[in-house]
Amino acid sequence: MKNLQYANGDQMPILGLGTWKAGPGEVYEAVRTALRLGYRHIDCATVYGNEAEIGQALADAMAAGDVSRDELWITSKLWNDAHRQEDVRPALLRSLHDLQLDHLNLYLIHWPVVFKSGAGFPQSDAGYLSLAEVPLRETWSAMEACVHEGLVRHIGVSNFSARKCRHLIDAGHIKPEMNQVEMHPLLSQQGLRDFCVDNGILMTAYSPLGSGDRPASFKAEHEPQLMELTVIKAIAAERKRTPAQILLAWAVKRGTAVIPKSVNPQRLHQNLEAAEIELTEAEMAQINALDCHYRFVTGATWKGPNTPENLWDEK
Ligand code: A2P
Repeated sequence: MKNLQYANGDQMPILGLGTWKAGPGEVYEAVRTALRLGYRHIDCATVYGNEAEIGQALADAMAAGDVSRDELWITSKLWNDAHRQEDVRPALLRSLHDLQLDHLNLYLIHWPVVFKSGAGFPQSDAGYLSLAEVPLRETWSAMEACVHEGLVRHIGVSNFSARKCRHLIDAGHIKPEMNQVEMHPLLSQQGLRDFCVDNGILMTAYSPLGSGDRPASFKAEHEPQLMELTVIKAIAAERKRTPAQILLAWAVKRGTAVIPKSVNPQRLHQNLEAAEIELTEAEMAQINALDCHYRFVTGATWKGPNTPENLWDEK
């Protein structure tokens, strides 16, 4: 398995297990199976609502001798309702408790979107606060304190534009080391990728397979199907691989981490194997040409002061 290297030399396996949408009653087995197959990087978040079940799977796998803590890379994310200075550490401690860990390898600000403390998932504008009321640098400084305390090894962001990353680089003491964003051939994010490379920020691609199992309320009509794209299917047929594997191999070849979600043993195995596929420059060029800046996760569900324009800092 290839790794991405952090500034201090820490290595993060380039392909990890995504756990968004991995439901109760299925995520335990998915994590146990993934660890037996050789996955060593698990991507979690408070809002996925499954960290306690994942924590039990990690604890049981370690007790069974399948894996040791040192071999694991565990990421979690701060939810939008805990951005205030005083809320960050308690939120992290809850994730650590649920995951049955004493530290995380990586903790991310999940969205540059702020809810009132403990609001969960507010249904109206009244549950939201603006970035002027709770600035990202306030949240970031509390994240930095968690690094100093040894609760997390690395900190970063998710769904951040280059402009918002730049703000934290300028305002903070520790620079964000990771930006996790939606990335796949229809949304290659090349501009953001270039910014992150230039500034020493690693990237992780979420929804690499198009997250077809999102709730209907998060879906647009007539969405494109990544695994049905003609170019992807042709390369897959030529190489006797699956379209999913080609999508994942594309992310790996770009030097971004990638976190496909599966709860199915065959697909878990297939996805892990994809990290070993080496696409040619010609194949990469064909896939890169598919980019049309299409987002599956638009952020349009956010209310209050958040518009897609100020969320992504795009016109
Ligand atoms: P399942 O969990 O039943 O395997 P994303 O990672 O972009 O969020 O996409 C996750 C979706 O893709 C889930 O519906 C998952 O279903 C499905 N999936 C994961 N791996 C594969 C694969 N190798 N081939 C086809 N579908 C896959």
